[in-house]
Amino acid sequence: MSANIQAMKQETERNKTFSIVFTMSALFFLLLAVCGHAQNAPAGDISPAQDYHPSDANLEARRWFQDAKFGMFIHWGIYSELGDGEWVMERHKIPVHDYEKVARQFYPVRYDPKLWVAAAKAAGMKYITVTTRHHDGFAMFQTRMSDWNVVDRTPYGKDVIRQLVDECHKQGIKIFFYYSQLDWHHPDYYPLGRTGHTAGRPEGGNWDKYLNFMNGQLTELLSNYGEVGGIWFDGMWDKPDADWKLDNTYSLIHRLQPQALIIPNHHQSPRPGEDAQTFERDLPGQNSAGFNKAAPGNVPYETCNTMNKSWGFNLMDDAYKSPRELVHYLVSAAGRNANLLLNVGPMPNGELPPEALDRLRDLGEWTSKYGDSIYGTRGGPAPPASWGVMTQKGDDVYVHILEDPGSSLSLPKLGKTVVSATLFRDGGKVEFEENDAGLSLKLPARQPDEFDQVVVLKLAPSPVMTKNGT
Ligand code: GLC
Repeated sequence: MSANIQAMKQETERNKTFSIVFTMSALFFLLLAVCGHAQNAPAGDISPAQDYHPSDANLEARRWFQDAKFGMFIHWGIYSELGDGEWVMERHKIPVHDYEKVARQFYPVRYDPKLWVAAAKAAGMKYITVTTRHHDGFAMFQTRMSDWNVVDRTPYGKDVIRQLVDECHKQGIKIFFYYSQLDWHHPDYYPLGRTGHTAGRPEGGNWDKYLNFMNGQLTELLSNYGEVGGIWFDGMWDKPDADWKLDNTYSLIHRLQPQALIIPNHHQSPRPGEDAQTFERDLPGQNSAGFNKAAPGNVPYETCNTMNKSWGFNLMDDAYKSPRELVHYLVSAAGRNANLLLNVGPMPNGELPPEALDRLRDLGEWTSKYGDSIYGTRGGPAPPASWGVMTQKGDDVYVHILEDPGSSLSLPKLGKTVVSATLFRDGGKVEFEENDAGLSLKLPARQPDEFDQVVVLKLAPSPVMTKNGT
């Protein structure tokens, strides 16, 4: 009996706290909306994002990002349970009221973020970008903006993002948050865009309320989880012509965490306020997937790709890329000045698929030997060619020979004298000849399974300028 009263008291206290917090949040978001309105006011008002000058912390974060080169993308949500990718709700025309039952079955008994983070680190990945919510709108973190989240709607009842973030901080790896702007569940995501027409939602909704809801969740993500590497936006392509009031959202993010990078996957040229450009399933400058029509802009680049063909866990998708293909993709990205964000789709029980773990191990073998030829580098002095790419760090140029050209390789002029040429793998000398056309390398035999024969060229150091300019 007294235990019951105690429980009721606790419940009342919880409700009281909740309504205080709720009222405070409502006031905060009202303020946000008013500020947002002011920022969007006409009369030649220039909002902060349009006038965007990245902060020093942001520029420093961009440099870090470019040095990092390799990250792990994680697509995990309640959709993983259905084993048919993260678009399962849309693809199978599952209405909201049926899809909500999926949340009631989420209980990942094998979820151990320590293992995920360790696998990413051992593969040579320097950051993790995780889906905090996908197009189904389901938050994998605790949010007060709606109960459509992992804590309130699943028997598991724990914030999976918090556990992953804590582990990332513990093991010293940066965390980025994927956040879907598209939402197939929220009633205020209205008017609908290209997708979401089979979810059986009411005909009506308040777009400004939806934007406030998103800004509220972003505020939570940037206030409750410590330092965040950045926000990776996706889904704006669903309603490319809608008024997303990006300036408000971008300035909110930069205000809350000035170093956090904004990386949008909207398939357009970078806009003011954005800190990196992403290329979905393509290297910068390519457009095999059909998404990447925008030319590479003046910000750091990142290409994201899958290990098989799916982002979210797909039971039947066995089309895994070989370790050779994955190493080539990583190196080809680095040679184009881009990071590779390589995806894994954890299983509903919380484990990474065994095929993904195998490939992470293979990548780790390569990065532990050859990592210096990509980390901290920028694209090399000559453009990518049919044989491979170049990367560069100071006066060292790394020639990544991906496709075996035979016993010699002709390179264009590099603009500086080459002082020496050695094999990265053992420091052995590589004979070379400089002539009017460029540089010719005499290549030693390739070893079996040498995915990338790396030759290090030392360039003559740049002359140091004296005071009087000589
Ligand atoms: C696309 C897909 C989405 C996936 C993303 C990853 O935007 O719609 O499901 O998360 O690509 O780049």
